[in-house]
Amino acid sequence: MNFKVKKGKGVRGEITIPGDKSISHRSIMCASLAEGKSKIYGFLEGEDCLATKIAFQDMGIKFETNNDEIVVYGSGLYGLKEPKKEINLGNSGTSIRLLSGILSAQKFSSTLIGDESLSSRPMNRIIEPLSLMGANIKSQNSGRPPLEIGKSDMLNSINYDLPIASAQVKSCILFASLYSEGKTIVREKQTTRNHTEIMFKQFGVPLSIRDTDGGRDIEMYSPSNLKSTEIDIPGDFSSAAFFILAALIIPNSNLTIKNVGMNETRTALLNAFQEMGAEIDIINKTGNFEPRADLKVKFSKLKGINLDTKFVPNLIDELPAFFVAAAMSSGSTAVRNAEELRHKESDRLEAMGDVLRSLGVDFNMYHDGMDINGLDNNNELNTYKGGIIESYGDHRIAMSSAIACSLFDQESLVLNTDNVNTSFPTFLEIADQVGLNISLEEHS
Ligand code: S3P
Repeated sequence: MNFKVKKGKGVRGEITIPGDKSISHRSIMCASLAEGKSKIYGFLEGEDCLATKIAFQDMGIKFETNNDEIVVYGSGLYGLKEPKKEINLGNSGTSIRLLSGILSAQKFSSTLIGDESLSSRPMNRIIEPLSLMGANIKSQNSGRPPLEIGKSDMLNSINYDLPIASAQVKSCILFASLYSEGKTIVREKQTTRNHTEIMFKQFGVPLSIRDTDGGRDIEMYSPSNLKSTEIDIPGDFSSAAFFILAALIIPNSNLTIKNVGMNETRTALLNAFQEMGAEIDIINKTGNFEPRADLKVKFSKLKGINLDTKFVPNLIDELPAFFVAAAMSSGSTAVRNAEELRHKESDRLEAMGDVLRSLGVDFNMYHDGMDINGLDNNNELNTYKGGIIESYGDHRIAMSSAIACSLFDQESLVLNTDNVNTSFPTFLEIADQVGLNISLEEHS
């Protein structure tokens, strides 16, 4: 599919964003490994999270869905059954990396595969620590999926300094540590999203977490079991980001986004936007384990900034949207320390470079970021234009481009947008609800 994008009016009204993708994956994993019946509310029915759910179904876990509630009949840490076939995780990096931690400790072997994009993503980052723990995990494709995981008895604990800021690598080790002997210590130099740590606490797994200079040390022992519980998943901040962007850059916008996840390891985009002059009010903040709030966002004249490099891991998924905001700001914006963008569903630095070039935006590319030269002091868009944009089959590139194209009189086409269904299947419905003009066009 492609998106056909016409000029949008200001985005207005009140919307609710679907559930958080990272938390949805973890809720299925923890509830499946818990003893007995857990309930999940607000699960994201996107293709990535469904791939995780189907993987556990294929390992014998039973689920019942009633409206917004999923009941999971967990089979305990040692109750998974050998899958009858390869486990296909589609486009989902979180599924393959976190599941590898669990499967490395099972008494059966398994093979994990994915689509073309997932099959080109680096897995040595998890193969290395899992092998140190005694796992028998191999890539069939020079460090990329398919992954072959052999059966195992008990894993060793490790003391591991994360070489890259990655919540998927950290979480893979923590899931494997549910099955390891002795104390595991994972050290991160820069704090990454902490949903696994929070959810382990909800399922009764004791963890100790210590703040260090800019990062965190996490220590845990394998528990005797995970205690079933109820998980209420807030809206996905990363999905909300596209509508925050729309409200900030499209004149006459005034939008309320309800029930957005406000975990501080995810919301650095708000700080960055506020530093650029964005009018965003955070109201009705609630929630114990995973906080949430409503956001009121108004059209704002943004100005460029040097993005603080320490923010980067906490807005890594929002950088495509941030690049669009930078292009629509006066002056220039610099982003560095973002080389990880090259290892996402696409090389997001190159992909966004292509998008910006198509829109007529001036930028300089670096191996780990970009300088984007935005608008003149009057924030006039006159040198920019819509057009035909390639999204490289990457959901976040597709949605960021569609919002950018909503600014132009000329009709635009964003190509290859099917993968929006991996994280935000209701994107078009919500876009329509707020007054944007984005529709589907079949591939010709
Ligand atoms: C995720 C971690 C991040 C993020 C991804 C989801 C997670 O990946 O980009 O969308 O749920 O743990 P990395 O760990 O590769 O940074």
